[in-house]
Amino acid sequence: MKKSLIGLAVLLSLLHKITALQLLLNNRPYDNRHTDNLGNPAILHCEVVNNTNDQSLIWYRGTQQVDIKSENSVNASHICIPELTIEDNGVSFTCLLKQNTSMKLSLQMNVLFPPILSGETEILAQEGKTVQITCGFKANPAAVMFWRQNNSLFTLPSRYKQDMTTDTLQLTIEKATKADSGTYTCVASTNGTESVRVIELIVGDRQPGLPVEAIAAAVVVGALIIAFGVFARREKVFKACKKRQHETAM
Ligand SMILES: *[C@@H]1O[C@H](CO)[C@@H](O)[C@H](O)[C@H]1NC(C)=O
Ligand SMILES: *[C@@H]1O[C@H](CO)[C@@H](O)[C@H](O)[C@H]1NC(C)=O
Ligand SMILES: *[C@@H]1O[C@H](CO)[C@@H](O)[C@H](O)[C@H]1NC(C)=O
Repeated sequence: MKKSLIGLAVLLSLLHKITALQLLLNNRPYDNRHTDNLGNPAILHCEVVNNTNDQSLIWYRGTQQVDIKSENSVNASHICIPELTIEDNGVSFTCLLKQNTSMKLSLQMNVLFPPILSGETEILAQEGKTVQITCGFKANPAAVMFWRQNNSLFTLPSRYKQDMTTDTLQLTIEKATKADSGTYTCVASTNGTESVRVIELIVGDRQPGLPVEAIAAAVVVGALIIAFGVFARREKVFKACKKRQHETAM
């Protein structure tokens, strides 16, 4: 008698487990991950199963609640992302039961994209000064990052220092010489495919300061601007100044 009662209790608890209210996110009863390429659409589908009455669902993108239509919230709900962006990468989308928010499932977005490199492509430097060459990068999956000098791999001389953060690769050259001039190629390698950004370094003569002519010219130009109020010409003047500095640096 006692044994059969225990058996019944076990059976009931099993039945309860099977029929207990549950959430499914993209048909899975556990947290999961969605991997797809940049630009592709993604649909996230959340549903309540084993419910006996209407159950409302809500969504969060990261810590921000997502606006959904009320008809897209009862018993089942979906979110459509027309085009996955880099900003979606790593973001968690969470579906929660409105009445009991401790019932929830999350999906982490894993957006695949080839390396994107950024930063200046020409650096004018002075002999004897410290030069920094910086290459910004983003990639998923992560890329192996390194430099090439004049198109060949090189072992860094002691005057050269390489630093890397999660999104920048930096080369610091102390006491630059004219022979350090050349191309510095920032290379991002993923699965044997390389993405590159070529940065040209031009090390010129040491400059004592602003050339006297440039200062004189600036004074004259400044006086003209005040005298005639030709503020519209400012841009042109700046351009002329830049060009002049550039010439003297060569
Ligand atoms: C939600 O599910 C319950 C239980 O199955 C059902 O009675 C109800 O009609 C459903 N509501 C809608 C809007 O589908
Ligand atoms: C909310 O859901 C949790 C996890 O499923 C459950 O343990 C708890 O009993 C629920 N609370 C209510 C008030 O239904
Ligand atoms: C790179 O090549 C240029 C042109 O041939 C040369 O002047 C320069 O010294 C080279 N730079 C290095 C660091 O080898």
